[in-house]
Amino acid sequence: MKVGIDQIGYFTPNKYVDMVDLAHARNQDPNKFLIGIGQKKMSVADPTQDAVSMGINATLRYIDKIDQSKVGLLIFGTESSVDQSKSGSLFVKSALKLDPAVRAFEVKEACFGLTAGLMIAQDFVRLHPDQTAIVIGSDIARYGINTAGEVTQGAGSVSLLVSSNPRILELNEGHSAYSEDINDFWRPNYSKTAKVDGKYSTQVYLDFFKHTFSDYKRQKGLETKDFAAIAYHLPFTKMGLKANRLAIEGVDEETNARLMDSFTASKELNANVGNIYTGSLYLSLLSLLENGGLKAGDLIGLFSYGSGAMAEFYSANVVEGYENELDKAADEALLDKRRKLSVPEYEKIFSASLVDPQNNVELTSDEKKGRYYFAGICDDIRQYRVK
Ligand code: HMG
Repeated sequence: MKVGIDQIGYFTPNKYVDMVDLAHARNQDPNKFLIGIGQKKMSVADPTQDAVSMGINATLRYIDKIDQSKVGLLIFGTESSVDQSKSGSLFVKSALKLDPAVRAFEVKEACFGLTAGLMIAQDFVRLHPDQTAIVIGSDIARYGINTAGEVTQGAGSVSLLVSSNPRILELNEGHSAYSEDINDFWRPNYSKTAKVDGKYSTQVYLDFFKHTFSDYKRQKGLETKDFAAIAYHLPFTKMGLKANRLAIEGVDEETNARLMDSFTASKELNANVGNIYTGSLYLSLLSLLENGGLKAGDLIGLFSYGSGAMAEFYSANVVEGYENELDKAADEALLDKRRKLSVPEYEKIFSASLVDPQNNVELTSDEKKGRYYFAGICDDIRQYRVK
């Protein structure tokens, strides 16, 4: 039985900072951010967009195209959780008016959260082929004003529908996973911004990539040339470029060119959104599917990395007609319609996001009509409204 990704929806908030403006404000050469880091813009979430509202908005992108009565599982992967007990998936389930019988919960392992959910969903659908699963990754990456990580911030969500006979990607059984208890990046409960050992984190990412990629190929009897493309977790696009360079070491010219071209296609959305943690690999996958000229049957490798650290390499095949399930124009419009913030405006929003919202103060949103937003806390209960 074929199981895989049937729908992909993404959402990013309606404001951004341009990396050239940020470089000037931080007395850096813009090429360091544009080329050295590989980022053009970063989305900024104001206090009315959080992991939950973004996750609802990402799922709304496809919810009307699916049979909602078949959804049996809803997993919410995040490291920007809004509550220590209640899962984000329950807010999503209520906004989408899904059946009370849906099993709903939240998972966490840094940026690996969506992949963890996807693997559980895949097993669920293999056991219950008549049901589907929604898996969401939703996060706001915050390092702090004037930190080395600032240029790698971002905000957004990706939502996947997992089903049998999927219309976009068929997931192949098997994977290579690798984990170690390390401190490359983490966020203690008392901090709204991440703690990070930046250079170390990039080295571990590459080490875990080398390990899982070679182990996966060995397990499956594959060679690098068998992959039409490889999609990477992209905390910033230069990170994936470094991994891709390792992947193509020693390959023939044609494979080298193909994997470099497909990498270029896979980074376009991420270069303009920034790091969205759990959703980053899947935003890159969407970018690849929309810009990479892939054919039915093409084999795609996927590398997921979550700090702390946990990595997994797996693969999928492109399904005939996958283009019909994507909406490239609408995906690009989400980026094009964002409002550019000046650096002082962004700093003001950023500082406001470090302060907990006050109880019983209503928030209003400037998102477009039909979008969900966080409307404040009423008697200690978070309120989500549709605009
Ligand atoms: P930095 O101190 O700005 O680094 O921090 P740098 O000074 O080494 O510069 C970066 C690159 O820009 C270098 O290139 C420079 O040569 C180049 P590289 O050697 O890397 O190829 N450069 C220039 N290029 C062109 N023109 C110029 C110029 N000047 C310099 N004029 C760092 C960079 C990524 C460490 C920092 O931004 C950071 O700490 N980011 C956050 C951590 C991170 O994203 N880590 C990634 C791996 S961990 C991960 O992926 C998990 C994560 O998503 C979280 C999760 O799992 O939840 C983060």
